[in-house]
Amino acid sequence: MKNLLLEFLCGRVIPIKIVILRDYESLSRQAAMLVAKTVRSNPAAVLGLATGSTPLGLYRDLTEMVQQGFVKFGRVTTFNLDEYYPITRENPQSYYQFMQRHFWEPAGISAARAHSLKGDSDDAAEECLHYEQRIRQAGGIDLQVLGIGINGHIGFNEPGERLQAETHLVSLSGETIAANSRFFEKAADVPGMALTMGVGTIMKARRILLLASGGHKAAAIRETVRGPLTTAVPASLLQAHPRVTVMVDREAGRYLAGRCAP
Ligand code: F6R
Repeated sequence: MKNLLLEFLCGRVIPIKIVILRDYESLSRQAAMLVAKTVRSNPAAVLGLATGSTPLGLYRDLTEMVQQGFVKFGRVTTFNLDEYYPITRENPQSYYQFMQRHFWEPAGISAARAHSLKGDSDDAAEECLHYEQRIRQAGGIDLQVLGIGINGHIGFNEPGERLQAETHLVSLSGETIAANSRFFEKAADVPGMALTMGVGTIMKARRILLLASGGHKAAAIRETVRGPLTTAVPASLLQAHPRVTVMVDREAGRYLAGRCAP
């Protein structure tokens, strides 16, 4: 069954557009340009957003573009990819607070338009269903921004035998807990679970922009772009999406042939 699905997907593979930038600064600038252009051509766009270190430069540059009057985010709707579970929205380590600090507030996106999964919901399954509904009601995601884990995860869809299509509760892998412990005092403080959009939710976005920076992401990027489609590298399934751009800096793109864009 699994092989049939992969064969079906492989038959539809469209080459991913790869953009290799000199460094993290150029990567952030190019990514910000792409997001800003999307919003300038559709001020009511629905954006899917990621947290983590990678998009920090993107959010900083977008905020600068807002301050310079190049783009306005007042009419966009946003949906975040994921949130730790359990965690309250007041917790400074929550992705809710991250987004508030780094993007929603400086870019002028009101609470009513900025959606994220509630990490303190009593009923995780209900929260996930409701999130899918809200994305549908908003008309689906126009542009989904993604980072990637060193293990190839997107959102918190961890490598494994199976992946879930829709938003769901997931246990974080030891690798992910170790990688994310840098944001916490100690690894034991990292919540062991998370709510995340599923791979199907991500694949329904009309356009996807995946960002990666640094040599520690190079192998995951190579497998995402050149490897087989496999649940062992969740990001590899993006090869079956018709409109994906992978933007990397030189280090993250070191196993991909190609010249750097300026
Ligand atoms: C964050 C998310 C994760 C991160 C990934 C990379 O919302 O969904 O998949 O994008 O773990 O994290 P950084 O950018 O910190 O290396």
